Amino acid sequence: MGKFYVTTPIYYVNDVPHIGHAYTTVAADVMARFHRQLGDDVFFLTGTDEHGNKVERAALERGVTPREHVDAMVGKFKEVAIKVNATNDFFIRTTDPEHEAFVQMFLQRVHDAGDIYESTYSGLYCSECEAYYTEENLVDGLCPDHGTAPVHMQETNYFFRLSAYQERLAEHYRSHPDFVKPRHRYNEALSFIEQGLDDISISRAQLKWGIPIPWDPSQVVYVWFDALLNYPSALTYARDEDLTDRFWPATYHVMAQDILKFHGIIWPAMLMSAGYALPEHLFIHGYLKLGGEKMSKTRGNVMDPFPLIEEFGPDPFRFYCFREVNFGQDGMVSEESFKARYNAELANELGNLLSRTVSMVGKYREGSVPAPAGRAPEDSPLAAEAAAAAAAWRERLEAIDLTGALEAVWNFVRRLNRYVEEQAPWKQAKEGAGAELDATLYDLAEGIRLLAVLLYPFVPATSAALLSRVGLEAARPAVMWEKAAWGLLPAGAKVVKAAPLFPRIELEG
Ligand code: MSP
Repeated sequence: MGKFYVTTPIYYVNDVPHIGHAYTTVAADVMARFHRQLGDDVFFLTGTDEHGNKVERAALERGVTPREHVDAMVGKFKEVAIKVNATNDFFIRTTDPEHEAFVQMFLQRVHDAGDIYESTYSGLYCSECEAYYTEENLVDGLCPDHGTAPVHMQETNYFFRLSAYQERLAEHYRSHPDFVKPRHRYNEALSFIEQGLDDISISRAQLKWGIPIPWDPSQVVYVWFDALLNYPSALTYARDEDLTDRFWPATYHVMAQDILKFHGIIWPAMLMSAGYALPEHLFIHGYLKLGGEKMSKTRGNVMDPFPLIEEFGPDPFRFYCFREVNFGQDGMVSEESFKARYNAELANELGNLLSRTVSMVGKYREGSVPAPAGRAPEDSPLAAEAAAAAAAWRERLEAIDLTGALEAVWNFVRRLNRYVEEQAPWKQAKEGAGAELDATLYDLAEGIRLLAVLLYPFVPATSAALLSRVGLEAARPAVMWEKAAWGLLPAGAKVVKAAPLFPRIELEG
């Protein structure tokens, strides 16, 4: 049994959550569920980033205190995790007193290591990124990520000697070629390091909404320094016992490219300075785009996933995320393509396969899955393809190719539909080919059971429904990796007829 610690970014609570937040949370959930299927010891963390300029300003705009603001907003982010059916083991808030104490302890270690000094900074600050920019990094004088004008800031701050870690960071990248995935993101981060690193200011003098610097409470900790520490800090207080030895270092930090530099450069340097092990991997997925642009609260072009989840449940949304957009790349999303894919794939391909199978077992064998008499499970014409689908699914999931894994499962859904046409059970029934009909019906019911195992990380509620429709108990043991083998459905299983899993969406116009 291995251990697997996966995290999402902790989301800013300056505004309500949108589809991009739900996307990363679902991706991490797919990974967590898959590793539980393998029998690994899993910890899955998500949460909220509640300090900093951006959040303080949002509170001011609403005419409330930052504390009131974050307390009012956090529920919406907790709700995202619940609504998408995420199995996070903890939800961290950076305003948790235990987290604040951890940040102070960690900062003191970095200070004691000689990596902190005082200096005056003067530069352009984008409060959306919560980061400084140089003139040459701006596009037409605007933040390249947010398209907003940065403001001039000058403060005497505490600085972290990031520059001192340049060589060690580059060395770490070279000796860990899969530290950042996919590869082009690794190259991006490494070339940034090789261009030379400046020290960074890690405190703020004017800002009040943050964690006080332990040795100088007139300043607060820079929000990114505070936020990145959520990953180890949560392990110290999520349970009664400290889980650090059990789960640190993280196996995967999952995020989009907007925050690669913070995670790929500042974060490992902070950990080196304080003497902590580095995370094993960062996985950088792409942006979901609407109308050709990255969705962002600042740009005001966001797609709200909640009405779709409200109406269709979490599974169609979870399914759509990885079918529509190749995980790791940018891709367009829209309500139209959501509905089209739902109808074509969930309602037609999977929904029909299930209802045909259940109704034929009902019609021809009184609802009991027949034994394929005189035939060993491996003699099924589907056995080899089922094994290949399961192997590809596992291999793709281990490579964090969520889209590839789902594609491998979907090819098998299509294979089962073709099998129905090839075998034509209605003909076998008419011609009195009893043994052949038994074998066909068994194979279809068994195919559905296997689909329940392979679909589990992506569409867990659907997986449970598939299991119960072929008469099995929908519980964890039924979806463990060992169950991804062909021929495990006991003959005599009672199929259950019920309403369609995915009723078609009537499209307007
Ligand atoms: N608070 C910081 C993260 C601190 S982690 C120590 C932050 N928060 S955020 O609310 O802006 O979230 C950014 C993350 O949300 C992205 O890295 C990505 O995981 C997710 N996404 C936000 N918009 C997205 C899309 N349009 N598409 C895909 N992912 C999106 O940055």
